[in-house]
Parts: sequence; structure tokens; C-alpha cells
Amino acid sequence: MQKVFNKYGLKYDVKSSLAQSRLEYKAQPQKRVDKQSFYKESLLKSAVNKLRMTVRPNMRLVPATLAVLIQCAALLIVAAVIWIVNFAVTVYFGANLNISIFTLVLMQALFAATLSYLAGMATWWRWIHLCFPLTAWIMFQWHIPNAVYLVGFVISLSLFWTTFRTQVPFFPSRPVVWQQVANIIPQDNPVRLIDIGSGLGDMSMYMAKTRPDSQIEGIEIAPLPWVISFIRAKFRRSSAKFILGNYQALDFANYDVIFAYLSPAAMRMLWDKASKEMRPGSLLISLEFEIPGVPENIRILGNKNTPEIYVWKIA
Ligand SMILES: C[S@@+](CC[C@H](N)C(=O)[O-])C[C@H]1O[C@@H](n2cnc3c(N)ncnc32)[C@H](O)[C@@H]1O
Repeated sequence: MQKVFNKYGLKYDVKSSLAQSRLEYKAQPQKRVDKQSFYKESLLKSAVNKLRMTVRPNMRLVPATLAVLIQCAALLIVAAVIWIVNFAVTVYFGANLNISIFTLVLMQALFAATLSYLAGMATWWRWIHLCFPLTAWIMFQWHIPNAVYLVGFVISLSLFWTTFRTQVPFFPSRPVVWQQVANIIPQDNPVRLIDIGSGLGDMSMYMAKTRPDSQIEGIEIAPLPWVISFIRAKFRRSSAKFILGNYQALDFANYDVIFAYLSPAAMRMLWDKASKEMRPGSLLISLEFEIPGVPENIRILGNKNTPEIYVWKIA
């Protein structure tokens, strides 16, 4: 096993599985841009930004509320466009406009996706806005019984719970990441580690298996993944403990390692809490998401299958 030190003096072991991983210390490659395309790009950018400032509501809305408002606004725009076009066709051609439902649904989808872009919503929201009216129309065509929607809603609710507020959906990390995390954490002494937002519990159970000397926990806010992780841990006789709750209620001072796989929206709040509560020398590890303006001590570069891992050693 090879020992690696970075420039901050943080030490960890590198097993063969990690041998291909490269370390990067914030060295960003410089992009060469020619003048003309630079001006073109900045003119276009400022026009889009101006439009965004007009469209974007001044109040701070959670994305789910903004999404509902955008669909309503798109509906009003579609109604207005149809009314104007119908008026023009009637006046100039003396005929009535004949538009299929599918065309209306497509217009709704396109207007909603455009508005979400102008409102500066994340890319996946644009896809949701685009797909939502079309999917609703297809489902309507299939005459699916109402109970199916209710069951779908209950399952989604227990899986995603307050995602509309936390802005952290459920998606699992992969075994290669768990190995890398196991290699990063201190090897010499037992640690107390918690996965904040433990999902189905795989990461915590892996850590409990690889580090039987340590105390491994997971906390999950959504009931369904928590129940599943709890039952799985019992069946597997894993020593990992799973708590149902919000990680914001924890005292981070009780842990040596905090592992987070959250979302860009959650990182600022996470850092506010971690920097206040975590003990000097403890590690905050984030899969995929950086903390804006807080340089990490170690970054393990990912590849197209594995996201990057960021590590902060609390000073
Ligand atoms: C991206 S998943 C990560 C799952 C798991 N850590 C893994 O690596 O497979 C994020 C999870 O965090 C949960 N979550 C979001 N906000 C939370 C909070 N404030 N407290 C506890 N769990 C939270 C979500 O419900 C979701 O299951």
C-alpha cells in the first residue's frame, strides 16, 4: 500500500484500485479565446442576461414553486399566441384556425423550457419542463386509472420527500467511490464517520464492512430509503447505524469524517455548518460537488463514470 501526502500535509493510503486516480491541485487549464468570438459571445451573453433579469422573479423562490409558475406562464403565453394567430387568420383569411391538441402541448413544452432557461433554472429543469406536458398528454391518451397516479405519487413522496425544499434528490454513489473514500480516511485509528443523506445505505454498509474498527452511521431525511437501509443493515448484519432525520440537526463535532453526496444547492449551507462545528483535523468529503469559494485540500479526479471527490481538512 502506497502512502500519499498532499501539499497540506494530509496523508492517505492509495490501494491499487486508486492507482489510476490522479490528484489535481486546482490547476485550471487556460482557455485561448480569439477577440471576435469573445465580443460576440459577451454581446449574446449580456442580451440573454438582460432577458433573464426581466423574466426572473425578484423574489427567491424554491425551484419547485418557480417550476409551477413557469408552466402557468407558458400556458398563458400559448393561449395568447393562439388567440392572436386565430384573430389574424379570421380577419385576413376569413377562416378558423384548426390546431391539434398535440401542437398545443408541444408549444406549452417549448415555451416552458424556454422560460426555465431564461429564469436561469438548472439544465435538468429545462428537460423536466420540456417533457412534462408531453408526458402528461401521452399518459392522458392511455386512459390510465387514477389509482395508478396516486400510487406513483405516494412512492415518489416517500422516496424524494422534501427534495423540493432540500434540493437534494436521491441518486446512489458507486462502489468505486466507496473504495476511494475508504482509502482517504485515516487508517491508523478508528473513526466515527457519517454519510449525510445515506439513501439506501450502501456506502455506509461498505464502510462498516471495510472498517470494522470504526463507528459508521448514515442519516436520511426521506422515509422510504431510510426504511430500506435499516432493513438491509439488519439482514446483512451490518454494524452501520441508520438514523431517520435531517443532518442539519446533528452536531458535526461528534464526527471525524463527514461524507456528503448532496447537490450544488446544498453546499453553501453544508460548509456554514461544517466550518462552525467540525473539529480541527476532521475531514469533510464531498462527492461530485464543490463548495463555492472554499478550496479543497485534496481533489481526486474522476472520469466519465466516476465523479470527482473533494476533501477538506478542517483547520
Ligand atoms: C445523492 S443521494 C446520496 C445517497 C448516498 N449517500 C449514496 O452515496 O449512495 C442524497 C440523499 O440525501 C438525502 N437528503 C437530502 N437532504 C437531506 C438532509 N437535510 N438530511 C438528511 N438526508 C438528506 C436525500 O433524501 C437523498 O437520499
